[in-house]
Amino acid sequence: MHFYEPRQGHGLPHDPFNAIVGPRPIGWIASRSASGQLNLAPYSFFNAFNYTPPLIGFSSIGYKDTVRNIEQTGEFVWNLATRPLAEQMNQTCAAVPPEVNEFELAGLTAEPSRLVNVPRVAESPVAFECKLSQLLQLKGADGTAVDSWLVLGEVIGVHIASHLLVDGIYDTAAAQPILRGGGPADYFEIKPENRFKMFRPR
Ligand SMILES: Cc1cc2nc3c(=O)[nH]c(=O)nc-3n(C[C@H](O)[C@H](O)[C@H](O)COP(=O)(O)O)c2cc1C
Repeated sequence: MHFYEPRQGHGLPHDPFNAIVGPRPIGWIASRSASGQLNLAPYSFFNAFNYTPPLIGFSSIGYKDTVRNIEQTGEFVWNLATRPLAEQMNQTCAAVPPEVNEFELAGLTAEPSRLVNVPRVAESPVAFECKLSQLLQLKGADGTAVDSWLVLGEVIGVHIASHLLVDGIYDTAAAQPILRGGGPADYFEIKPENRFKMFRPR
């Protein structure tokens, strides 16, 4: 077994951490600054954390525009990143000044939301309208604060394209979600043939 202590370095050509904890779903997060500027960016340190109320969260490595916007307005929209939208999702991670609207940069349509003043990506088949519930600065085990920020939000509105509801059941694979692997460029796509079923022991 290769063993390493991350504080001393991994000793490998690439840090395996996010290749091991992967593939990860992508939080494709739309937000709006206090002055009204729209923003859209992907965050793969992302997941769901609770059913009732539904809570999702993502981590920003550094205090990025998305975090600042959400702290200012208390609102954001999560959009599903899909295989047909992969290139456009990737374009929205460009390190551009806050005044650049990544919807426009990537040729995406900003569709007004119903409950929050942040639009969703019209081209994406699923979106969550969210309200900020907690904003936490992360700490190491020794209590030292790191420049990383965990944004948690309550999902207050859910949009699902009707073709993804088959007899009322959400069809995960039909949406062609993409997930982030490790390294500089690895992604994975969900396909129906990769599904298996397993029920919990009674
Ligand atoms: C697929 C993907 C996943 C990413 N995940 C993260 C992440 O989890 N945390 C992070 O800080 N940056 C992540 N990034 C980089 C941000 O998207 C990038 O820094 C972006 O410019 C931030 O935008 P903002 O400053 O408008 O919020 C990711 C980029 C890509 C392409």
